[in-house]
Amino acid sequence: MTFMIRTALVTGGAGFIGSHLANKLLQNKYQVIIFDDLSNGSGRSNLSKKIKLVKGSILEASKFESICKKADVVFHLAVKPLTMSFDNPEEVVKINDYGTYLVAKICTKLKCKMVHVSSSEVYGTALSVSMKENHPLLPTTIYAGSKAASELYVRGFEKSEGLKMTIVRPFNSYGEYMRDDTYAAAIPNFYNRLSRNLSPIIHGTGKQTRDFTHVEDTCEGIMLADQTKNALGDTFNVGQGKEIQIVEIAKIIMKKYQELSNKKFKIKLRFEKPRKGDVMRHRANISHARRILGYKPKIDFNEGITRYLKWKLGITS
Ligand SMILES: NC(=O)c1ccc[n+]([C@@H]2O[C@H](COP(=O)([O-])OP(=O)(O)OC[C@H]3O[C@@H](n4cnc5c(N)ncnc54)[C@H](O)[C@@H]3O)[C@@H](O)[C@H]2O)c1
Repeated sequence: MTFMIRTALVTGGAGFIGSHLANKLLQNKYQVIIFDDLSNGSGRSNLSKKIKLVKGSILEASKFESICKKADVVFHLAVKPLTMSFDNPEEVVKINDYGTYLVAKICTKLKCKMVHVSSSEVYGTALSVSMKENHPLLPTTIYAGSKAASELYVRGFEKSEGLKMTIVRPFNSYGEYMRDDTYAAAIPNFYNRLSRNLSPIIHGTGKQTRDFTHVEDTCEGIMLADQTKNALGDTFNVGQGKEIQIVEIAKIIMKKYQELSNKKFKIKLRFEKPRKGDVMRHRANISHARRILGYKPKIDFNEGITRYLKWKLGITS
């Protein structure tokens, strides 16, 4: 594939996925600028010093527009997280929807390509597996609803105003620099509890499944969405194509944590009430991304979780 140097603007680039994406783009000869208000991101310390970071909110339209003028492509990842949608849904809707509307509007005006990073959450619980891109959108949380609506605004700009865009729907991503604060997801939550000799907490039965995908694979899919000409106007699942139960993940982490840290403990899982709007089953069908983007996940769960735990434990070998 021939590929010219491009300038990429990554919104939310100080976040978990955004920081990995920014570094990856840099390694792939893009010039990279990040636009992030630094409200949540866990990936700031992951960023290469060669990457320019502009602090600003996507709601500051004129500031965003002046930076966007320098870009050939905007990778839009700025987001308020799922768990925030339980305690501050208005903020989630404001940033994930109105914010995306502004980004799409400015990209349209400047004739800049937009790779919109949506989420598998838009599907809700799988009606059947594996889930193709034409699976109905049945969001079960305000966050998922906000991500579904954001896609529709981007699609609206494409159809009515000629925005050049591609939509990517990553499935649950995990890896180094994942947030472990109030809004942490299952994997860092399990780790945090274990490292304090506490039982990992499972919400519901733990039989819910997710298609956990290492962040490097997620970023490969997102980058390919820009590099593939006939991806324009299309939507792609980016996942591993496999499902794993949450309870299995907790057990794997317990086992690997003991191996890697040389600690032995007898900790039982703790089961608590289900989380509101929890998706029960997810497995991506990635055949469309394979065929059009040439996307191929490389890191299986075993390897990916070992990498994450080694990073957490400061093991460099
Ligand atoms: N993490 C996952 O498992 C996952 C799965 C599917 C889809 N996604 C999508 O990937 C994208 C990135 O997710 P993440 O997990 O890296 O999230 P994250 O919370 O780690 O990063 C989001 C970034 O957006 C920034 N941000 C928030 N509000 C902003 C604003 N108003 N203006 C500018 N920046 C703002 C935050 O400071 C943060 O750095 C999101 O669009 C999310 O929906 C994530």
